[in-house]
Amino acid sequence: MVKLPIPHQGPGDVESRAAAGARRCQGLLLAICLRLSWEEKQSGNLEDYEETVKKAKEAWKVWADIPAPKRGEIVRQIGDALRQKIKVLGSLVSLEMGKIFVEGVGEVQEYVDVCDYAVGLSRMIGGPILPSERPGHALIEQWNPVGLVGVITAFNFPVAVYGWNSAIAMICGNACLWKGAPTTSLVSVAVTKIIAKVLEDNKLPGAICSLVCGGADIGTAMARDERMDLLSFTGSTKVGKQVALMVQERFGRSLLELGGNNAIIVFEDADLNLVIPSALFAAVGTAGQRCTTARRLFLHESIHDEVVAKLAKAYAQVRIGDPWDSDTLYGPLHTKEAVKMFLDAVEQAKQQGGSVVCGGKVINRPGNYVEPTIVTGLPHNAPIVHTETFAPILYVLKFKEEEEVFAWNNEVKQGLSSSIFTKDLGRIFRWLGPKGSDCGIVNVNIPTSGAEIGGAFGGEKHTGGGRESGSDSWKLYMRRSTCTINYSKDLPLAQGIKFQ
Ligand SMILES: *[C@@H]1O[C@H](CO)[C@@H](O)[C@H](O)[C@H]1NC(C)=O
Repeated sequence: MVKLPIPHQGPGDVESRAAAGARRCQGLLLAICLRLSWEEKQSGNLEDYEETVKKAKEAWKVWADIPAPKRGEIVRQIGDALRQKIKVLGSLVSLEMGKIFVEGVGEVQEYVDVCDYAVGLSRMIGGPILPSERPGHALIEQWNPVGLVGVITAFNFPVAVYGWNSAIAMICGNACLWKGAPTTSLVSVAVTKIIAKVLEDNKLPGAICSLVCGGADIGTAMARDERMDLLSFTGSTKVGKQVALMVQERFGRSLLELGGNNAIIVFEDADLNLVIPSALFAAVGTAGQRCTTARRLFLHESIHDEVVAKLAKAYAQVRIGDPWDSDTLYGPLHTKEAVKMFLDAVEQAKQQGGSVVCGGKVINRPGNYVEPTIVTGLPHNAPIVHTETFAPILYVLKFKEEEEVFAWNNEVKQGLSSSIFTKDLGRIFRWLGPKGSDCGIVNVNIPTSGAEIGGAFGGEKHTGGGRESGSDSWKLYMRRSTCTINYSKDLPLAQGIKFQ
């Protein structure tokens, strides 16, 4: 069920991007956007939520009875439907979120990829048959869907994060109830309509993948609701903590993907031809609004000045512009509040001893543009360095030794992504080992961002501990039963207990 929200954004956000792009953009897309955002300004309320949960629960009864490989077939069709609309959906992401067009398309591609992955998985999920210590008994692990999976996603990946959750949750046999970010509701509506059509063409209830657009009231209702068998939340650590506590209060299950404060460490033996584009992409891509954005760059003292100079040169060449232009590499921030947070962080960095090597200012053009920024000279433990600011600010820090820099990588509260650049084999394995990076994503000679769907995605500590997408993440969307079946004729109890 679809209810449209009142756009939270004023001129300078989605409307100004639409107006600026009107000359070039696909006329139809624009017409849809304008009609959706201006004529039907309506947000889902708690009554709508109640009705939607009931419909999703009803739909689950149908979905749970369908064999997993057949559910996979439906997910395959969803992937195909997304493939057909990949460009138009990518443009809508670009329009509403503000990321550049290729990244918007890339995000839909991630959803397509995870659908393919889920199709294969739909024939593989299952548990082992374990050896029973009792004669004539079988010990079987059975996995069942949890039921209804609530998915709350953030503005920065308005398609991919829902895709990761819903494709896997669906093949596991769950119904989904999605609440996207209030500022990217057009994307949520468009994606839901594509999925609903596939379901309904297969004579299945569209409510298997339900949507409620709304604000914090809906999010809170989901967190408190016992009927939400799993709540997957992607967003800030601050809100994620509130969600986690509300879900824990009712002994519910949550899957959390929260903040990151990701570091790239460059050793003296690193290939600097790799380092410069990698650091640039990780720090500046999506205007610094990825959870895996590189925010800290640790440089060995022997190469510090050289790398800073080269990086500043590379920053100066970043093509800033309209996210819809194929030439643009770097677009605007999502909202005006983000611009304010950017300026605050730059100010704090200066107060705490940092020097702005490049950037640091708002760009004088409509639409929330700020300069990609490099700050040097801060101590590794400056409070601002330990703060995740969702903006393109890179703190460059100097180190001497491996041991200290591994410790600095781990000293922040968050534990999402991390990278080293080196050719030293021993160091690489120390980095992957128990005294190396404590993050969920641990890279070597590639940057912190750009995860593949085949691996488990997520992080430790204040990042929330959840894992999504690949590997055995599917287990988080299911409940495990340990089943003992007696097929014998007598009564041997476990541990040799005699009960007479
Ligand atoms: C297993 O089933 C048989 C046949 O019903 C019964 O005689 C036996 O007591 C059962 N064993 C246990 C451990 O329950």
